[in-house]
Amino acid sequence: MDILGIETSCDETSAAVVRDGREVLSNVVYTQIPLHRPYGGVVPEIASRAHVEKIRQVAGEALGGRKIDAVAVTYGPGLAPALLVGVNAAKGIAKSLGVPLIGVNHIEAHLHSPFLFDPSDDKETLFPDPCEECPALGLVVSGGNTILVDMPKYGKYEVIGETLDDAAGEAFDKAAKLLGLGYPGGLVIDRITTAFLAENPGKELIPFPKGRPREGVSALSGLPAALCVSFSGLKTALLRYVQTHPELSLSGPDERDYGGRVVTPAAAHVIASYQEAIVGAVVDRVRTALAMRPRKAFILGGGVSLNSGIRKELTKLCAEKGVKLYMAKPKYTGDNGAMIAGLAMYRRRVEGEAAMRMDATPSLEIGDGETTAEEI
Ligand code: KG4
Repeated sequence: MDILGIETSCDETSAAVVRDGREVLSNVVYTQIPLHRPYGGVVPEIASRAHVEKIRQVAGEALGGRKIDAVAVTYGPGLAPALLVGVNAAKGIAKSLGVPLIGVNHIEAHLHSPFLFDPSDDKETLFPDPCEECPALGLVVSGGNTILVDMPKYGKYEVIGETLDDAAGEAFDKAAKLLGLGYPGGLVIDRITTAFLAENPGKELIPFPKGRPREGVSALSGLPAALCVSFSGLKTALLRYVQTHPELSLSGPDERDYGGRVVTPAAAHVIASYQEAIVGAVVDRVRTALAMRPRKAFILGGGVSLNSGIRKELTKLCAEKGVKLYMAKPKYTGDNGAMIAGLAMYRRRVEGEAAMRMDATPSLEIGDGETTAEEI
């Protein structure tokens, strides 16, 4: 079955056609990052206007004249004016082609991205059917979410940990803004950190807090603190460090290239210490989760899952525990239509009037109201 997937929940306009849930036939992504960069973050009205301008072209390119069996779309969570563009476009395409519509949860789709493969580049056997890999634990680390879930079977999600404040991606982006590294900040912080650590193995890092919430705080809403993260203390610690070290500067006589970005060694040391605090927090929570709920696989998704520290440490941890680790190919870590089209294979198809009533749901939660295809 070939499904067209449409994604417009934030700042990427994307569409893709995926066969049988995993084989990517096309994936077109138009990123709006340059439009939002001057504001240091995503501006919902600008995002919505850019989606309106691009959606026809992006969907047309992804379709490329192919015949499809259904249209899938992200209906939440995300920015309301951005989601609406995709949902309305998907309804229009489904109606005009006379095919069913499938609503997909964006966070759940990030957990499907490790199972997507490109027929021309990849060995299909390395990308199994996710149903066969459950029970599994999953982690979505992105610009908007940091969520740890237990998946007793594919399509069922129990949230077992999450962030109490910023998502991991926000923690990267806000630090980059504070340090003057530009937007978005994750990739540049990662590159500087990788180069700095390669050059200074074993160097003592600044002991920034490791994002562990206190037991019993009400924001935990019943979740165990050992499986949750909080990045607000880390951000404040970075701000204090900058304020108490006025000599710290990105540029100076000793500045040099760290992974494509020229900064001083002192700044690179701060940046690497900050990244390692985030990596340490994430990996520590995953280690605890695997001890509390041993599972045969661990599934990692979201834009921050591209981070080299997180990839390296989780690879080590899962090898140590004998757990199979699934990470998305780099091009499927950020927001993309392929993960929407792929997961749609496992979701309920809606036709006719019912499809036209589907609504954008900005605060949709993982596991909310989804029905797997085999249940209907
Ligand atoms: O998944 P995504 O496209 O957005 C949401 O669905 O929310 O993720 C975007 C986030 C941004 O915060 C960006 O800074 C971060 O992913 N990011 C990274 C890396 N590449 C992108 N964070 C850390 N290390 C990276 N290599």
